[in-house]
Amino acid sequence: MTEDLQPRGPFRYGDRVQLTGPKGRMHTITLREGGELHTHHGVLRHEALVGQPDGSVAVNSGGHEYLALRPLLRDFVMSMPRGAAIVYPKDAAQILAAGDIFPGATVVEAGVGSGALSLWLLRAIGSTGRLRSFERREEFAEVATANVTTFTGGLPDNWDVVVGDLVEELPGAVEPGSVDRVVLDMLAPWECIDVVADALAPGGVVLCYIATATQLSRVAEFIRGTGLFTDPEASETMIRGWHVQGLAVRPDHRMVAHTGFLLTARRLAPGAVPPDVRKRALKKPTYADDDVEMWTPGAVGDREITDKNLRKRVREAQRAADGARIAASGGDGESA
Ligand SMILES: C[S@@+](CC[C@H](N)C(=O)[O-])C[C@H]1O[C@@H](n2cnc3c(N)ncnc32)[C@H](O)[C@@H]1O
Repeated sequence: MTEDLQPRGPFRYGDRVQLTGPKGRMHTITLREGGELHTHHGVLRHEALVGQPDGSVAVNSGGHEYLALRPLLRDFVMSMPRGAAIVYPKDAAQILAAGDIFPGATVVEAGVGSGALSLWLLRAIGSTGRLRSFERREEFAEVATANVTTFTGGLPDNWDVVVGDLVEELPGAVEPGSVDRVVLDMLAPWECIDVVADALAPGGVVLCYIATATQLSRVAEFIRGTGLFTDPEASETMIRGWHVQGLAVRPDHRMVAHTGFLLTARRLAPGAVPPDVRKRALKKPTYADDDVEMWTPGAVGDREITDKNLRKRVREAQRAADGARIAASGGDGESA
């Protein structure tokens, strides 16, 4: 396993480097022997960067300057190949806080999608923690595995991806009551709550990341109805960037207004029934079968990737992972 999830020190062959060139144009390259970045401004040889500190400026054959920085995790996840929609950095940060993901924690995640959240979780649990990721589509698991390999330079030995449905796989994969935290990022998290309740340790946290208010409502009522959890708490996270230049200090004109909602609840001890939970569970009717029919991928606006595009993403992700593996094992030879 690669202990250090973020390389440090001078640039080496195999490193991913984010270049900002003339007019702020950005390029992400993987440094390789003999490699060159060709633009209409000239040619930048990769060897000009190797051995230079992170944050250096390199000059191309046309005399144009490029600022070179290793991508941060948030840069990497935003530009890596995607099979499924990713958890955005603003939500990942909040998931780590609201889900109380701590060093050494045993965490279960489903689905793994493109592996963006897996990377944040792996960072937060550190080398003493354990992440078990579940994904029902094999190609997504492949994209995620390749993306994690690209970023870490190898497969972390405290991480595994189980291909299959969480409902079927979780009971056989973990001891009952042994998991500290569960993060569900999927269309129908309510289908998984029963197995999650069995897997979680008393006091453990389940966190659902969901895109629509209808899903939020359904999973909240399901969790409440089990009587096995504290009353769910829901939130959304909006970040408004600011333009800060001289006396022009104001909010940015554009922002990402909606990505998803977060919902958390804590597993009660076996047999514990707080009086307020009992009252809430009995109070209101929730969903009839007709309502449930509405939670189909189309109805909640989930856009499916085509098989052809998904295979392309798998190839892209695996090429990048091959480059990272070569870099981690010495850094010479061809890389993506
Ligand atoms: C939005 S993506 C997850 C994105 C991921 N969190 C990331 O940051 O890259 C949702 C994934 O959940 C998977 N999925 C949905 N239901 C599942 C289930 N019951 N068990 C396992 N995987 C599931 C889907 O195949 C899909 O890949």
